[in-house]
Formats: sequence, structure tokens, C-alpha cells
Amino acid sequence: MTKRYYFLFILLFAFTANAQNIQWTQVQPGVWKAVIGKPEAYDLLKASGATPATTGLQQMGKADFPLQQQDISARIVDGKVYLRFPLQKEEQLFGFGLNFQTVYQRGKILQLHVDHFGGKDNGRTHAPTPFYVSSKGYGVFVNAARYINVYAGSAVRKDSKNPPVEKDRNTDKSWASRPYSDAVEMLVPAGGVEVYVFSGPTAMDAVRRFNLFNGGGVLPPRWGLGFTQRVKTLYTADEVKAEAKAFEEKGFPLDFIGLEPGWQSKAYPCTLEWDKTRYPDPAAFVKEMKEKGIRLNLWTNPYISSAASYYKDLLPYTGSHTVWTGVVPDFTLPQARNTVFGQMKKSQVDIGVSGYKIDEVDGYDHYLWPDVATFPSGLSGEQMRQTFGLLVQRYTADIYHQKNQRTYGLVRASNAGGVSMPYVIYDDYYNHEDFITALINSGFAGVLWTPEARASKTAEEWLRRMQTVVFSPMAMINAWSSGTKPWSYPEVADQIKAMATLRMQMMPYWYSAFARYHFEGIPPFRSINLEEGFSYEPKKESVNKNLEENPYAEAVSKEIKDQYMAGDALLVAPLFAGQTSRKVVLPKGKWYDFYTGAYAGNGEVITVTPGLDKIPVYVKDGSIIPMMPPMLHAPKKGEKVDLEIRYYGEKPGQYKLYDDDGETFDYEKGQYTWRDITVTKDNNGQLKGTISAPVTGKPNTVGNVTWKWMGK
Ligand code: GAL
Repeated sequence: MTKRYYFLFILLFAFTANAQNIQWTQVQPGVWKAVIGKPEAYDLLKASGATPATTGLQQMGKADFPLQQQDISARIVDGKVYLRFPLQKEEQLFGFGLNFQTVYQRGKILQLHVDHFGGKDNGRTHAPTPFYVSSKGYGVFVNAARYINVYAGSAVRKDSKNPPVEKDRNTDKSWASRPYSDAVEMLVPAGGVEVYVFSGPTAMDAVRRFNLFNGGGVLPPRWGLGFTQRVKTLYTADEVKAEAKAFEEKGFPLDFIGLEPGWQSKAYPCTLEWDKTRYPDPAAFVKEMKEKGIRLNLWTNPYISSAASYYKDLLPYTGSHTVWTGVVPDFTLPQARNTVFGQMKKSQVDIGVSGYKIDEVDGYDHYLWPDVATFPSGLSGEQMRQTFGLLVQRYTADIYHQKNQRTYGLVRASNAGGVSMPYVIYDDYYNHEDFITALINSGFAGVLWTPEARASKTAEEWLRRMQTVVFSPMAMINAWSSGTKPWSYPEVADQIKAMATLRMQMMPYWYSAFARYHFEGIPPFRSINLEEGFSYEPKKESVNKNLEENPYAEAVSKEIKDQYMAGDALLVAPLFAGQTSRKVVLPKGKWYDFYTGAYAGNGEVITVTPGLDKIPVYVKDGSIIPMMPPMLHAPKKGEKVDLEIRYYGEKPGQYKLYDDDGETFDYEKGQYTWRDITVTKDNNGQLKGTISAPVTGKPNTVGNVTWKWMGK
């Protein structure tokens, strides 16, 4: 080798030395894993303890690797992982966590960082799940408990395969400040990382595989899908009882009441011990409430006060910094877990408390420990920040699991790995429109989100907010601070009651939707972009003119962030205060009005003026919606309820009704059934409905069945 060639060889070697040869292994059907460098011992899947739901994944079947492997690259530079995934021209991206204002993520620059949402989609959010889904039908997940920098189709390499065309700004009007980018690039600040790719063929399939890989979605207890109200701070046991009585007297449904700060002897920092002046006999109180059909949910944050009886035992297992002077337990250590969760179990769970609202585990930076904090396990402040919400969810959920009793509560932070956790995310931000966009994005982020009603300026706003609460994973009134009651605005009190009653009647539908989340990974609340019959069609410059004449093509070329799917059958298009009419994009296929069964449209944009009483909801052709009688509380464990089965449209109807005892984990041992419901038309055009027989030895909560042919 001449000297010159030798030099070139050395140069080439130096340049490629850190480029990783990526080996993809199919670890579950349609789920592919690559190990880049030396991954850290602690990651999101380890923190959450998520294990794949293998049966659901197997049912989905094997699938080919969805990308050109040679187009994916990884290199390690400066002790960090640089990842690059290809993008095609007409491809849109969804996900990257619980975003509040945008659904389309292509072109975004984000730093995924657990935080309270700060009014801008910049990666800092309650669940910055490092997972994205493509409209081309695949998903990518980076399993790192780190702040990950994402360039979601914003950066251009000079060796790009599809480089942007160079244009002269002086003369070319089509010059753009953001040239075309053909890749998603990510910077993971760790010496190695596990990366997963989820096959399609549809975007929904990729989401399902991600959810199932994370253990499948949560199946809440039936009561968790009923109404919940939170009471004022410092309320006493007697005041809580009076609140429950008021709901009962007004005939307003209620399944659980949340106690805000005040039930503990100290708060901010907390003791996790009852305040004996406000709650002299917690066990008797919890029991009495339960007998009235009301469960209790307790607010807390996990920052422990020096006044807690177990403080000294806990101290060695806490981080270097305090939060509101409370110590921060290192929940990766069994000693910290045994002390804190042991206290919760003994003092609250064992006397019948149904769940928690775990506050302040997300941010803000001024409250939480800084990144320079250290923890006795050796985890860094950053790793703890990315996973603290996961850890508290995981280990509180464990207490309930060990008691064979389901829980359903609230939390302010989660991450990948948290799909099966029995928690719903909430925050202090309060923009109704953004709450709906968050609901849409929750379906891409492997979490649940509640658009809670907290307060409102007008009766109209209160009603509009309550309408979306009804079509959400947790029907929550969190008006403890404003003191607003469902009936506070007399002019809309009846409408609100009607909506709340509807929520309860729809319980069999909600419950089956959640069962599909659990067993099949289908998010119960999700974007229209995951819907069959809907496809993202980017705007083509050349057909701009045609678009103006074709409102549907125009609509699907834009981001849709104000309408969503609730279960398989329903498209919900909320109105916000001040609006009297709105546009609704109906995907291809026939759609019907939820309330009347009247035909509404097919692959078109309709304008609706529903009046104040109604939230526009449309039902897919051939859908079956099982309803139960209006009840003030969810059916008790194993209680039989009658069903009114509604059918919409023209197509033959097929539905799977999920049934189990509604409260325990016996379904994990096979104690559940899927009852087949069908609707067909006979030769004379008469509709006929059937429901398969109950299975001997399995739970059966179905009483009498009646049928309702909507719109007929
Ligand atoms: C906030 C929380 C609110 C409420 C409040 C009580 O941090 O987000 O929903 O619980 O604390 O002090």
C-alpha cells in the first residue's frame, strides 16, 4: 500500500469506526429489536416492569421488517448514541408523547423530558413517550430513561439520499427556510440503547404492537368508568359524606370521591398518615362510604415529611435533594418501597381505599430535584425524573394486584412501559381545545388522559366541558377549588344530568373498549388517523386548485386535532364554548347520528349545528352499542344488568361484548368471556339480533336483552 492509500484507509476507518452494524432480531411477532453499543442497566421497560402480552402479539401474527434496514443508522459519538431513521416524501409522523397542541409531528424538534405541560409542544410533557408512529404503518421506540433529542424530519445531511433541491432565495419564490428532510434523527445521551421497530401494515397495527409489547392496556374496574368528583382541601369525613348525599339526592351518578390535601396529617411534604381531627376513624368512614356505593381515592405526592412515623427508616433510601422539604424515596430500592408502599397498604389500601391521585411526579423544575441530584441506587437525577411516575404507578398498582383487587387512579407522569398501569394522566393546565388534542395523542403515547371539568366562566362552558368528560377514559369533575357542582348552573343542570346518565348507560360499551385495549392493544380513545377509511393525504402543490373544490381532500390534507374516536364505533366532535356550529370530517364509509340513528355522511366534511344540549357523535355503519339501564353506581362485582343493544346503519353488525366480574384480576386466569353479538337482515328485510350463550363456569353479568334499531 502506498503511503497515500494507507493514509486514506486510516481516515476512512476513523470515520466509520463508531458506525454501528445494526442487527435486528424479531423478539415478538412483528416486534424487532436492535442493541446499539452497550445499553444502560436501567431503562423504561425495566423501570416499569412491563412484560409483553404474548397471546395478543401472537394473534396479530408475524410481519416483515417494515423499513429498508440499510437506511437505518446508528453511531456512537462522544459517548452518546446518534440514531437515524428514514422518511419518505408522503409520510406523516404521530406520537413522541402526550402532546397538547399538535398531532402531526413531522418537522418537529423536541427534547423528550418528563414535565408538567408548559403551554408548548416541545417534548416536555407528562408522558414524553419515546415512540413514534408513521402514516406508512410502522412504529419506532427508543428504550432509554434519558432526555432524548428528536429531530423529526427537520435536519438535512449532505450525504442524504433525497436531498432538498437547492434554491436561490433572491430569485425563487418557492425557496423555503426549512428544506426538505428525509430522516428522523435522535440523540440519546447514553453509551448504548435498545431500539424497537413495530411492524404494521397499518399505523393502528404498529400502535397495537407497541401497546401489547408493553403488556397491553389497563382494564379498569367497572366502577372506574363511572363518575368521580373531587372534594375541597381540608374537607372532613362528615363533609365528604354530605357531598355524597348531595349527589344521591340530585340523582347524579357517582362512583368514587377523591380527597384532596387534608386527609393526611401533613401535606407538601406528605406523611401518608391520616389526620385524626378530620378523619377520626378512617376504616369506619371508608366502610360507610363503600356501603353507599362510593369509593375513595386519595391525593398525595410521594415527598415524605420528617413528621412521618417511618421517616428515619426511610431516610437512608432517599435522594440527595428534597422537594418542599420532603425526602424523595428511591423507589428502585426495596427498602424504600417496603417502607412507603407498606405504609399505604396498611393505612389505606387494607381499609378499602380504592386508589390514589399521584401528584407532582412530573415537574416543574423549580419544585422537583435538579439533574445534579443523586440517589442511593446510583441512578441519576435525569433517570429518576424520566421514570419516577412509572415507579410510583407500578408499585402502588402492585399493592392492589396482590390483593386481587383492581384500582383506577390519577397520575401526573408516565412514560413508555406504563401502558398497563391503572392510571389516567391529568394536569393543571386548562384549555379545553388542547385537552381534546391531548386525548387524541394519548392513543399514540400508550397512556390515558382525562379532559377533567374544573371550573368555567359560563353555563355554556361548563356543559361543553362536561360533554367531553363523558366521552373520555375517566369521567372526572375536579372542581374542588372552584366549588362548582354538576348542578351549579341551573340553566344547564338537566342537560348535564342527561349526559352523566348517558355515560353510565354506555358502561358496557366502554368496558368492552377497554378490554380490547387490554387484550388487543387498541387504544380506547384515539386519533382519526388510526381509523380504517381515513388516510392522511398530503397536499400536492399541483392539485391545489382541485382541493378547494374538494373539501374532504382539503380536510384530510390537514391536521385534525378536534375530533376523535371513542371505542370502535364512535366519532366524537366536541364543541367548545362560543361555538354554535363546527365542521366534522367523516372518514370513508357511512356514518350515522348517535342520538337518532339518522344517516350523516360518508367520506365528507359536514357542518353541524347541534344546539347546546348535544355533543356531536357519529356512529360507524353496522355498529352495535350495548347499553345498560341508567344507574347511579357501576354494577357491583358480578351483578347482572339488563342490556339494550343498539344497532346503527345498514351493514351486518358484529360485536364482541366483554364480560368478567368487573373488580378482580380473575380474568388473568381465564375468568372472562367475549359474547358474540350479531345483527343481520332476513329475507323480508327484518333486522334480527343474536347474542351467544353464556359460558358455563365463566362470569355472566348479562340480564335481559332488548334490541333497538336506531333510525328505523
Ligand atoms: C395540584 C394538582 C391539583 C390538585 C392540587 C391540590 O398539584 O394538580 O389537581 O390536586 O395539587 O393541592
